Amino acid sequence: MQTVIKAPNVQLNGPDSVEAVLKELTLEEKLYLLTGGSGFGTCAVERLGIPAAMMVDSAAGINLAQYFGDLYSRIQIREGKPFKSLAGVTNTEETGAMITAISEGRELEGEAAERYQKICKERRKITDVDELPTCFPTGMLLGSTWNPETVEQCGRAVGREARCFGVNILMGSPDANIQRDPRGGRVFECYTEDPCVMSTLAPAMVRGVQSEGVFANAKHFAANNQETARLKINETISERALREIYFPGFRACVEQSGLKTIMCAYNHINGVGCSMNRWLLRDVLRGEWGFKGMVMSDWGGVYDQVQAVRAGNDLDMPGVRDMAPVREALENGQLSMEEVDFCVRNILTSLAENPSLQDPSRKKLDKCFSAEAAYHAAVEGFVLLKNDGALPLREPCKLALFGEGCKQFITTSRQSSRVFSYKQPRLLEELETRLGKDNVRFEEFPTHADAVLITVQSLGTEGKDRPDLQIDAEQREMLERGLDAARRAGAPAILLLNIAAPIDISSYVERVDAIIAVYYPGIEGARALADVLLGKISPSGHLSITYPRRVEDCPAYGFFPGASYSALYNEDIYVGYRYYDLKDVSPLYPFGHGLSYTTFALSNARLDVAQVNQDFASGCTLYVDIENTGDCDAKAVVQVYLHHASNVLPRPVRELKAFQKPFLRKGEKRTLSFRLSIEQLAAFDPRFHQWIAEPGEYVLEAGFSSRDLRVRTALQVSGHTPYDYGKHTPLRQIAANPAAYAALLENFAPFDVTRGDFEDCLKYFPDKELGVIVQELLVNKHLSGDDPKLCAAISQIYDELKNMQPVLC
Ligand code: BGC
Repeated sequence: MQTVIKAPNVQLNGPDSVEAVLKELTLEEKLYLLTGGSGFGTCAVERLGIPAAMMVDSAAGINLAQYFGDLYSRIQIREGKPFKSLAGVTNTEETGAMITAISEGRELEGEAAERYQKICKERRKITDVDELPTCFPTGMLLGSTWNPETVEQCGRAVGREARCFGVNILMGSPDANIQRDPRGGRVFECYTEDPCVMSTLAPAMVRGVQSEGVFANAKHFAANNQETARLKINETISERALREIYFPGFRACVEQSGLKTIMCAYNHINGVGCSMNRWLLRDVLRGEWGFKGMVMSDWGGVYDQVQAVRAGNDLDMPGVRDMAPVREALENGQLSMEEVDFCVRNILTSLAENPSLQDPSRKKLDKCFSAEAAYHAAVEGFVLLKNDGALPLREPCKLALFGEGCKQFITTSRQSSRVFSYKQPRLLEELETRLGKDNVRFEEFPTHADAVLITVQSLGTEGKDRPDLQIDAEQREMLERGLDAARRAGAPAILLLNIAAPIDISSYVERVDAIIAVYYPGIEGARALADVLLGKISPSGHLSITYPRRVEDCPAYGFFPGASYSALYNEDIYVGYRYYDLKDVSPLYPFGHGLSYTTFALSNARLDVAQVNQDFASGCTLYVDIENTGDCDAKAVVQVYLHHASNVLPRPVRELKAFQKPFLRKGEKRTLSFRLSIEQLAAFDPRFHQWIAEPGEYVLEAGFSSRDLRVRTALQVSGHTPYDYGKHTPLRQIAANPAAYAALLENFAPFDVTRGDFEDCLKYFPDKELGVIVQELLVNKHLSGDDPKLCAAISQIYDELKNMQPVLC
């Protein structure tokens, strides 16, 4: 690197040393630290003991192609070679092919063999592990578990693997983006369409990963909801939708779990690219939520290096990037050294705090620990969408299987979420082992079968959205063959959905006897599914995304994925079930839906208090009794929805506010309690930059899906809000209440402000706020704002108005 200056024993050896190291750094070193040191790593400055952190993606486990790519790019950089090919930015195809060849026992030849040797040597510098990692279920399945403990356990397992491999930051742990539209190419990486589910599960992943001494990374901040034109798309989104729908998952990771790193999204929000968005990064993330970690860009997501530093995008990935624009901006005064130091300090602190960098001692891979975490997540995430009694299967049984997916489930997409694992989920093999080879047939028309299992697959693709929700033609053809086989054998047809996200199965629902959404189930997917199919365990996954009847019903249909690099978020806060409920559109399967092998009953919803003051520190506890009324032990997902008919801000018909997943033995009865804070009941009003819980009635309903609500109760909230009459009240709202309007006229009459003046204003500017109107009238009438009589009259008006109930208009 650059000229080495002798440092007086200053070393980065913990957070307390950061300021001293910062002082020691030369400008060139600072600039060097602001970008990556390789394809997937930060820069090291040896003389000051600054280590390089390695980061790889982890949507379904450790991305070994990136890991290999980074090791190779380190070698190339050390050898002074420009790093292209293997270490190319995100081009991990070559390392991927290398890993595939090795794991299939094929010999590498020539240059590839030489590279592989070099990579292995480099790898041995940081780890003793030379096995392949675990592939875990992806976000779509984790979301369907509705179980933060399960998600946390997966986080712990993948974090532990990272520690063994010598990886310091796990990117995308979690992908906290909301599933705005099922056509999104990366919907399978994300958990849900709902901010409450997201805010419960995403921080659990962070907790798990970070408990192993590795830093988690939430991506892509914020509103990264489509792949079409992903680098250029400008999304027009209201602040309310950002605050109520797209931000809460990220916020929860910061506030609840002390998230250590965050990755900015590629997209622009209201005109500003996320890495260059000071409001997003400095005001909201750091200022409001108190984020103390490191912000990094998505790969190539810094479109203006100077703006990015100014906005607080600490690390510009990938490296190595020429930082000349930042140097120039410093020289010509466009950027201050404080702004550069701010980012460098965050990077240094992050490196100094990272336990896996501070204690890089080697650890052994515990595959069983990971396999168990993957198994439990799969079991808890499979969603039984329909069951006419075909499931569970009763042993002994003869089965016919259709679809390549039965031989091997898809587990990830090919891009950053890719995991080369040591095992594949193979249902056919698993069932052969359990039921005997003779009892399981693949793609044969059996004369006798107890059930026909048909696996339909769909791909999730980073960089590409789906044009529709159609099942591929060749899959449809296979599905028809499977259905035909079932019909001929007089056997029930069971549809298994090995899918990235909802697809259009509406025309098949009536033709099959049972449906299970398996999603991308990880390496233990076949074992877990066999247990569910054979009734060893009851399914307990519930939908964390709505299944539409037709693509045209999707909330963003018509504006997704936008055109001419512009995406209008016209559906606003009405994402997912909020839209289906608002428009009274019937979904194929509603949000929250999921069947079990048992039945549950809910009763006796009650609150600890009937009324609370809207002080944000207060809240209430909802109690609901649940009973397992069927004949097997199982887990239930109890969901609590809120309905509030607002006087001012339109609110969704229902919003999920809490949920629990209790395990109940058959016949067991229990009381569940849900604590709800006033803040959870509030809505965000951008006009006041505030979460506001209006006084009034809040109905709480509990049930097993957004369309299966069994019990309800109501809470009264009292108190004042900015909506009470005052400075911010729009004139039309005052005029709607005769008493308020009269008070206004009466108090202004002595100052020659007439009804006519107000009428004019009402006609042309009905939404103008009272405070503004008063100021304008004073100017127009040449009155002095200091006049004591006038001041008294104005405060009198506000006093009188304060005690009146606003009238809806
Ligand atoms: C993806 C990120 C990923 C990064 C590094 C980008 O193209 O959008 O999700 O973490 O590459 O692999």
